[in-house]
Amino acid sequence: MALYPFAELTEKKESYMSDAVTHADLQAPLARYSLLAQAFHWVSAALMFAVVPIAWYMTTLERTDPTREDWYSLHKSIGITILVLSVLRVIWRQLDAPPSLSGFMRPVEVAAVHVAHGLLYVLLFAMPISGYLISAAGGHPVVLFGLLPVPALVPVDHDLAKIGHTLHDLGQWALYGLVGLHVLGTGFHVFIRRDGLLGRMLPWRVG
Ligand code: HEM
Ligand code: HEM
Repeated sequence: MALYPFAELTEKKESYMSDAVTHADLQAPLARYSLLAQAFHWVSAALMFAVVPIAWYMTTLERTDPTREDWYSLHKSIGITILVLSVLRVIWRQLDAPPSLSGFMRPVEVAAVHVAHGLLYVLLFAMPISGYLISAAGGHPVVLFGLLPVPALVPVDHDLAKIGHTLHDLGQWALYGLVGLHVLGTGFHVFIRRDGLLGRMLPWRVG
């Protein structure tokens, strides 16, 4: 069984471990996200890494390009899938709380991670919802993977579509910044601190 990372890597309390961390904690098994929470994370992350380059590509296409419609439709379908997964993921998170980070890092770092994760969740909702507003309020249909029409929940309203557009446009920059920090932060734990943190989001031990 994988040991709590500090036990194997340091066998002593480090300065960033809280006073509440006992020797027994150091010997405890690594507390992981549940397999379902891990699946939500990695499937959503993979879809995020697909939906963004598709957006970059589709927005370069001429209006006359015969494939343009299909790329937009794929972008919208993947985006709505991310929204549905995020709803299920947040419900699951209420039923199955993530493992505590205390002992992994200083309280101020735990607070920063919670803020960053919170903002990532905001974007997991804000990006698809603002995208949906561009389409639905702009009078464009949203059909999931060419099969399932998504109802138009808002009237055609060009001001509303414009608001959606502004939010979607600005949101992408927040997304790039936060995901960049998130991945760099994970890299810091894997390569510098080597505390096994990535293993909390994987079925196996890392670092
Ligand atoms: C290569 C890419 C990625 C890596 C290596 C990665 C790694 C991780 C790790 C290790 C955690 C768990 C942190 C902990 O132990 O507390 C985590 C949590 C999280 N990640 Fe990522 N991640 C990646 C991509 C993404 C993307 C693209 C998003 C969304 C836009 C994302 C959103 C989140 C969120 C919201 C959490 C918090 C989960 C929760 O507490 O419910 N991640 N990630
Ligand atoms: C997590 C989900 C999503 C992400 C990360 C995302 C990201 C992006 C990005 C980066 C762009 C390019 C922006 C630009 O260059 O101006 C874009 C454009 C666009 N997205 Fe999304 N999107 C998501 C979901 C959606 C959804 C669900 C829809 C509609 C149902 C949608 C509709 C659009 C449309 C219509 C455009 C083109 C806007 C324009 O013509 O400038 N997106 N999206």
